[in-house]
Amino acid sequence: TTGMFTYDPSFTSTASCDSAITYIDGEEGVLLHRGYPIDQLASKSHYLEVCYLLLYGALPNAAQLEDFESRVTNHTMVHEQMHRFFTGYRRDAHPMAIMVGTVGAMSAFYHDSTDISDPWQREVASIRLIAKMPTIAAMAYKYTVGQPFVYPRNDLDYASNFLRMCFAVPAEEYQVNPILARAMDRIFTLHADHEQNASTSTVRLASSSGANPFACIAAGIACLWGPAHGGANQACLEMLREIGTVDRIPEFIARAKDKNDPFRLMGFGHRVYKNFDPRAKVMAESAKEVLELLGVENNPTLQVAQELEKQALADPYFAEKKLFPNVDFYSGIILEAMGFPTSMFTPIFALSRTIGWISQWKEMIEEPGMRIGRPRQLYIGETFRDYTNVEDR
Ligand code: SDX
Repeated sequence: TTGMFTYDPSFTSTASCDSAITYIDGEEGVLLHRGYPIDQLASKSHYLEVCYLLLYGALPNAAQLEDFESRVTNHTMVHEQMHRFFTGYRRDAHPMAIMVGTVGAMSAFYHDSTDISDPWQREVASIRLIAKMPTIAAMAYKYTVGQPFVYPRNDLDYASNFLRMCFAVPAEEYQVNPILARAMDRIFTLHADHEQNASTSTVRLASSSGANPFACIAAGIACLWGPAHGGANQACLEMLREIGTVDRIPEFIARAKDKNDPFRLMGFGHRVYKNFDPRAKVMAESAKEVLELLGVENNPTLQVAQELEKQALADPYFAEKKLFPNVDFYSGIILEAMGFPTSMFTPIFALSRTIGWISQWKEMIEEPGMRIGRPRQLYIGETFRDYTNVEDR
């Protein structure tokens, strides 16, 4: 008790919103998007079809899917003025810093889709963001590696277009590897939405003031960047590289259990999943498949990851804390095998999650009587007291 106030430690936050988009059962390791299980969507669907499902609430028929994919394809280019915008960044800027700045700046380029009270402008902003995020992420990568930007092509699918914009160079044509394109598309799908996580809640709260969608998505990107959230995929692969060989795993497991050591196993644990993360299961299978198909199945990072998972899951500490691999544990191994630097892992998470942020934004904006968010606090500070002059202190 601090005088006027009694602090109730049993206070728990109430649900922040109603939503019909994604359902998670943390105990059972269930993740449904509009009722469809994530493992079925990852194996049978593809990212743009999942985007349609998340945005409009139902799987599209052939005509609806073709129309949606055509609208996205025809919005993949960015305003040519944006190319000049990039020259303001240092070449060694983290691509996430570029994503935050450039997506926020879309508010200055696409005035005709910032009025959220207009259903048509909301629709155009949604399509523009889904379509342009891969282009912006690829431009951020090209800028940081000192290579020329590669324009999107309308004859390529979403994932192939992204891979080509990242890895094509003027000196030679880039042949998209269909295995990598399929694995890339699956990574997009596995990261598409995840209920009220920190970055989605950031987008919802920012949007509740009526701010334009580009500014709100930029806020979500900023939140996702943190190592406890979307930045974990980069931190996880850097941790696996630091461990280096399987004989050093016990040393790092001991550190993760040591309360005096701030080190945590990156890619492990989750606020909601207390049994397993269904996305991690699909990602682990995809990592094995992609590396085998690429002929690098004896990749040391994969071997360390598989042995680390085995040893950690056999350790009573992790069982007691209910810690196990999450979506970020294996994703970096696939992205590294594709040729991405670790700095591009979180931008890829951000472009994948854009549909989740947009769908949740749309659901909230279209809710009748939407009000500005205003989280409450439990005040535990000083009670009332009079000011004293500096000479009397
Ligand atoms: C994502 O919310 C979402 O849905 C997010 C996400 C999405 O799709 O949007 O799923 C994406 O962000 C996945 C999580 C990626 N982050 C990491 O992998 C970073 C490492 N993980 C931890 O920082 C942590 O597990 C969190 C942040 C994921 C979860 O944090 P919580 O729920 O607040 O759990 P906690 O930090 O309170 O930990 C509970 C206990 C603690 O011990 P005690 O204080 O109870 O003694 O478990 C320990 C922690 O010390 N612990 C870990 C650990 N994670 C938690 N110990 C070692 N290694 C870890 N990874």
